[in-house]
Amino acid sequence: MSTTTYTQDELKALVGQAALHYVVPGEIVGVGTGSTVNKFIDALASMREQIPGAVSSSEASTARLKALGIPVLDANEVSSLSVYIDGADEIDGNGYMIKGGGAALTREKIVASLSKRFVCIADESKKVPVLGGFPLPVEVIPMAAARIIRQFAALGGEGAVRLKDGQPLVTDNGQVIVDVRGLKITDPLAFESEVNQWPGVVTVGVFAHQKAAVCLLGTPRGVETLSY
Ligand code: A5P
Repeated sequence: MSTTTYTQDELKALVGQAALHYVVPGEIVGVGTGSTVNKFIDALASMREQIPGAVSSSEASTARLKALGIPVLDANEVSSLSVYIDGADEIDGNGYMIKGGGAALTREKIVASLSKRFVCIADESKKVPVLGGFPLPVEVIPMAAARIIRQFAALGGEGAVRLKDGQPLVTDNGQVIVDVRGLKITDPLAFESEVNQWPGVVTVGVFAHQKAAVCLLGTPRGVETLSY
């Protein structure tokens, strides 16, 4: 099999372009957040006459979509989406993911939950055997942060509030992010369910209940399609 040397940026553009095949003409598309999704949004501009618009998972994606002339609808205006296209920080062999490196995990999970099919676009570096190498993002209510960090410590994880310019990063929802290092998430479904119960947790960045149906993986061999 022939291989090509792509930069990581080129791999992101390849999978962003490949994701267009999953956009259903005449239907609203769910759009995620991140540098890979930015490539998808740029490619989506070529289909803007064929779709009524998009539901977006972040202020950043909304701004990019609008700048390209793609209408953005409020999530409350739609009851269901045929497809949600988004990146991931890690994806395992079952299509379970860690997301939230861009701090947009709560809106991403909301839009994913509205969608029939989650199509993950990622370069090969995101594929892992077990989730947890990437620090797990958890969006939390600020007054609960210290207690939640202690709860993760009891599971062997080391949590810290994410900073931006020396201050706690504030999400699009007005909350903060705790990043947890050192976890080995061997049962993502059970882990997500458990952490969701902790008071003050808004969203845990494990996407197991909203896992990927398909992953378009950018590799030196081209785009590989993984189905789960
Ligand atoms: C945003 O909050 C994340 O969930 C992104 O989907 C994830 O961080 C992937 O981003 P990149 O495509 O920039 O790697």
